[in-house]
Amino acid sequence: MLETSTPFSTLIRTATEQQHNEAEHSTFMRDLLTGQLGVEAFYRYTSQLWFVYAALEKHSDALASDAVAGPFVKPELARLASLEADLAHLGGENWRDELTALPSTAAYAARIEEVASDWTAGYVVHHYTRYLGDLSGGQVIRGTAEKLWNLPKKGDGVRFYVFDGIDNPAAFKRGYREALDRLPIDGPEVDRVLDEARLAFTMNTDLFRELGAEFSARN
Ligand code: HEM
Repeated sequence: MLETSTPFSTLIRTATEQQHNEAEHSTFMRDLLTGQLGVEAFYRYTSQLWFVYAALEKHSDALASDAVAGPFVKPELARLASLEADLAHLGGENWRDELTALPSTAAYAARIEEVASDWTAGYVVHHYTRYLGDLSGGQVIRGTAEKLWNLPKKGDGVRFYVFDGIDNPAAFKRGYREALDRLPIDGPEVDRVLDEARLAFTMNTDLFRELGAEFSARN
């Protein structure tokens, strides 16, 4: 049982622990990372991330000066330019013409845009779910992708997973969690924020499910 004095960073991790496990062990992720799907599935996944990060980073300038979101919005986290380099490598010069959002991706990006404009504590939750995950499990995905599809180490194709501006990810994550602990929220707002975190994870598993329907393992 968590006490009310439990740091918010612990509350949010605990509230989403089971869903994290489900996302990590989803059929699509498992098949992708055990080499049962081709590089085109990785390309499609990366293209869905483009919509998610376009939404996360669209209002970065305004959010950087927001009292609640400001401490989290940092240029060294920005992923859109890296995603575009990866997509150009994976999909060729016409990658933009092939870019289409799956329904779950469109819903996810729309939700991020909504909270970015009217509920910045909700935006922080989506920021946490993606960027802290990318700094953690994302590193597993990078190493596996490089090997499976013979992509240049930390180069085009996997730049999304490479944070050149962050020398010490463990220290960065510690600082990020401390910022979470300082979020100016209390009372019912805490529950509302934790519900949004569960929604953020659900939106990621919905995306994996749709990708899994599009690409299934060779039996
Ligand atoms: C193959 C898939 C995945 C693997 C192997 C993985 C692995 C990990 C690992 C090992 C950590 C702990 C790192 C640490 O304590 O410093 C972590 C943390 C995290 N992951 Fe994942 N993950 C995966 C998928 C996801 C997905 C799909 C999301 C959500 C979009 C996600 C979001 C997070 C978040 C937010 C954290 C930080 C937890 C915290 O300390 O507050 N992960 N992941």
